[in-house]
Amino acid sequence: MIAPSMLSADFARLADEADVVTGAPGEGADWLHIDVMDAHFVPNLTLGLPIVQSLLKATDVPLDCHLMIEDPDRWAPAYAEAGAYNVTVHVEAAHDPVGLAKNLRAAGAKAGLSLKPGTPLEDYVDTLKHYDTLLIMSVEPGFGGQSFIPEVLDKVRTARRLVDTGHLTVLVEIDGGINADTVEQAAEAGVDCFVAGSAVYGADDPMKAVQALRSKVVKADPQRWATA
Ligand code: DX5
Ligand code: ZN
Repeated sequence: MIAPSMLSADFARLADEADVVTGAPGEGADWLHIDVMDAHFVPNLTLGLPIVQSLLKATDVPLDCHLMIEDPDRWAPAYAEAGAYNVTVHVEAAHDPVGLAKNLRAAGAKAGLSLKPGTPLEDYVDTLKHYDTLLIMSVEPGFGGQSFIPEVLDKVRTARRLVDTGHLTVLVEIDGGINADTVEQAAEAGVDCFVAGSAVYGADDPMKAVQALRSKVVKADPQRWATA
């Protein structure tokens, strides 16, 4: 799955920018990744619930909301109630991540948990049993266009192993520095869903960039994707 991050899109034309990567099933974006930043959990400010609500009306592509905010226990459920497909919170910010996952699911969304590059996966395996998606950050959250941190691939491999052995049922998602040069190593490590901002919206043809990323993923492990 490819999830273009709209952080690198033109914020004045979000509906058009969503359309640019929308195609037939299996062709364009599987999800649209929306980066919500509050200038507290991360040193940057982007957009919030009103814009997500508008975008939900403007596109049929499922929204993957990545909340880089403090106190997600208080703010995240509203994104689920609004109709976001997947709502991801940071484990470093959540006070009660298990209770929060339950609230997100009760509000009709998938529950996602994100780990910053320095946050170990091992400490949160039990917590992740309550979640549907695991977003592994491969840059420090806050800004698009940063370089991929290859050390996080160990975390991806561990997550893949936990899923393949039935200990977890999360979808493994990676976010940060994913482009034509890095996507294959992430695919080989076992990622299911690839977030890419600058590599998609910074390209002359964003739709072609999505397709190029997807074909590299398939090439990295044809057997796995043949049955998908
Ligand atoms: C960064 C965001 C990412 C960002 C990725 O904090 O979570 O989703 O848009 O941008 P690229 O793909 O340019 O690294
Ligand atoms: Zn993100």
